[in-house]
Amino acid sequence: MVKIILKNPKESQDFGEKLGRILKGGDVISLTGDLGAGKTTITKAIGKGLEVEEYITSPTFALINQYEGRVRVYHFDVYRLEGVEDLYDLGFEDYFYSDGVTIVEWGDKIHGLLPEHTIHIQIEKGKELNERIVTISGQGERYSEIVEELRKS
Ligand SMILES: Nc1ncnc2c1ncn2[C@@H]1O[C@H](COP(=O)(O)OP(=O)(O)O)[C@@H](O)[C@H]1O
Ligand SMILES: [Mg+2]
Repeated sequence: MVKIILKNPKESQDFGEKLGRILKGGDVISLTGDLGAGKTTITKAIGKGLEVEEYITSPTFALINQYEGRVRVYHFDVYRLEGVEDLYDLGFEDYFYSDGVTIVEWGDKIHGLLPEHTIHIQIEKGKELNERIVTISGQGERYSEIVEELRKS
């Protein structure tokens, strides 16, 4: 488990962009945190790091948006998901186990459906205004690699 403090939106953007540059096809990122925590902010920045040129918006009603970057990027937002049936109808496994990068906002809502190799990013508001505390957790070789890369400045 790794904890990172992001003091302002700029630091969150830098973090997301750096993570995006590290990510490879097949990686799955789950973002968890209250409304306004910064999940979409970080998603947009991950997209930038993955060289997505299109403007990324939250797929709150569509459930998933797809982008072309250095690799294909699938952006889920499961906030309004009422039952997992909608995810099965969508064939979510084809995305989660693909050669693209998958980012899931509110991933904790579907924790049991996320692949074992998911990188979990939890965002909490800190004591200071605009401060966010990010906790990164996961398992496996890819998790270790990503954490190691993030530690490099
Ligand atoms: N350190 C920070 N990181 C990310 N967002 C921040 C930070 N400080 C303040 N904010 C603000 O919090 C809001 C986060 O919104 P958003 O990314 O849409 O959150 P979520 O997708 O989790 O609901 C934005 O208005 C952003 O400017
Ligand atoms: Mg959001």
